[in-house]
Amino acid sequence: MPRLAIIVASNRPGRIAVPVAEWITTVAKQHGGFEVDVLDLAEIALPFMDEPNHPRLRQYEHDHTRAWSAQVEAADAFVVVTPEYNYGMPAILKNALDFLHHEWAYKPVAFVSYGGVSAGTRAVQMAKQVVTTLRMFAIPEAVSIPFVFQLLDDEQRLRPNEVMEGAAKAMLDELVSVEQALRPLRRAS
Ligand SMILES: Cc1cc2nc3c(=O)[nH]c(=O)nc-3n(C[C@H](O)[C@H](O)[C@H](O)COP(=O)(O)O)c2cc1C
Repeated sequence: MPRLAIIVASNRPGRIAVPVAEWITTVAKQHGGFEVDVLDLAEIALPFMDEPNHPRLRQYEHDHTRAWSAQVEAADAFVVVTPEYNYGMPAILKNALDFLHHEWAYKPVAFVSYGGVSAGTRAVQMAKQVVTTLRMFAIPEAVSIPFVFQLLDDEQRLRPNEVMEGAAKAMLDELVSVEQALRPLRRAS
């Protein structure tokens, strides 16, 4: 069974990323196409990129980088749960991507984004530009959640609508297909 890592890309106290990530994690586990791990960037708590060498050399000097490298290496596909900050991706996500190189390569990535009217989609467009440089394959299927605040219940749990549930299934189905298709390239590299 391939491994899907769900990357949680907000470390703000009171972040909505938590209920969104909890929802998509449950959906991904029920989907059955992957073993599912959660990589919460708030818990992982990387400093700002502090390695002296380019990550493609894999000459890591810090334990936090080696630990992050092992977690990303273990994944075969990714779902990034991200808000949009000032029309862009959160700095914590860009930083986590920048730390590594080969570990990301030839793996598919999909985005679950949320926000106001834009549903976080401008952050996703920015992130897609970056992930292609890392040889990740961003798929178009996504869950884009506008006005996310309105979908939280009194206990701060996300109450998905039908559109979100359908989008999540389509996204996970496509991730399964693309992950399989990319395996030869991963083996060769
Ligand atoms: C610094 C900052 C910038 C923001 N910029 C945007 C934005 O560009 N678009 C948007 O839809 N929401 C924006 N928001 C509102 C976020 O959608 C909202 O705060 C959301 O809860 C952020 O996700 P998080 O709680 O998981 O960190 C911004 C929030 C912050 C704190």
